[in-house]
Amino acid sequence: MNRRQLLASLGISGLALSLKGRSQTIASLTKPVNKPIVLSTWYNQSKTANVPAWKILSEGGTALDAVEAGVQVSENDPENCCVGLGANPDREGIVTLDACIMDHKYQIGSVAALEQIKSPIHVARLVMEKTPHVMLVGAGAQQFAVQNGMELQGLELSFHAKRAYEEWLRKSEYKPVMNIEKGHGPYIAPGDEANEFNHDTIGMIAMDKNGNLSGACTTSGMGFKMRGRIGDSPIIGAGLYVDNEVGAATATGQGEEVIRICGSFLVVEFMRQGMSPEQACKKAVERIKKNTPKDANTIQVGFIAINKKGEYGGYALHRNFDYGVTDGNGDTKKIDSKFMMQ
Ligand code: GLY
Repeated sequence: MNRRQLLASLGISGLALSLKGRSQTIASLTKPVNKPIVLSTWYNQSKTANVPAWKILSEGGTALDAVEAGVQVSENDPENCCVGLGANPDREGIVTLDACIMDHKYQIGSVAALEQIKSPIHVARLVMEKTPHVMLVGAGAQQFAVQNGMELQGLELSFHAKRAYEEWLRKSEYKPVMNIEKGHGPYIAPGDEANEFNHDTIGMIAMDKNGNLSGACTTSGMGFKMRGRIGDSPIIGAGLYVDNEVGAATATGQGEEVIRICGSFLVVEFMRQGMSPEQACKKAVERIKKNTPKDANTIQVGFIAINKKGEYGGYALHRNFDYGVTDGNGDTKKIDSKFMMQ
């Protein structure tokens, strides 16, 4: 039986098929863009961080302002294990912060290994808006922040971070602890209650009412990391990428693996090829699993992405990665990400 005979036997004519295809195309073209919208990694963070972001977006503000205000909630939270000055320190007991920001005009700003400054994302934005550069690190980033009116904070660790660091010092083991059951908590002090709701980096991406995209990403990096270690979060293209013609993506998890594949850039490029946000995130995770020189059982990575229609998706290497999406009526939905490995 040839194709025409088969279709005829099923009662489907070529005309019917082509009409169906055309109406699907027309439906997808006429479907209203889902905007404004904001999404961020780890629902435990999203449920509070998306709130000021959504307020800005719903009042007609820009995606850039929204993502900056949103991730600052996590940066200011003294109980957050992995973002801001309350987070876990490096091996020497010093909290060092990484962040980057990108807008719809390919403008980028980034800071890394920033110490004693409360809002690295704001410093990243100032780098973007006030300097001819795109990245400042360490003492120079701190000097720039202070010159721009930011206050130098003390070196004292937060209550939770101090306890986690003291616990970690007892063994001083520098190896990742995969905590898939509770989400991703890299290099945590085992058994520490402060890490009951483990998560790391907050990456936030948004589209405003004008259809413009922006993103922000901020972290203290791996707890008890080597001094000077930088992860993916301040690296444009790794921890975050925005192309206003295509979409935006951001990453969480083991930064070395995200850097290895230029993760967020790759997700956006996959969307450019026509993949949905979820398919694009999945392809990037697949690439990590295939190419990592490490044992993929011992690492966790998750991506989230949005395209210009306001469609969104995420994908992770392991289970228990979730994210929060705020759109429509302003409620934040918890989305449990699909994942690759059992
Ligand atoms: N994704 C955060 C880090 O690896 O530093």
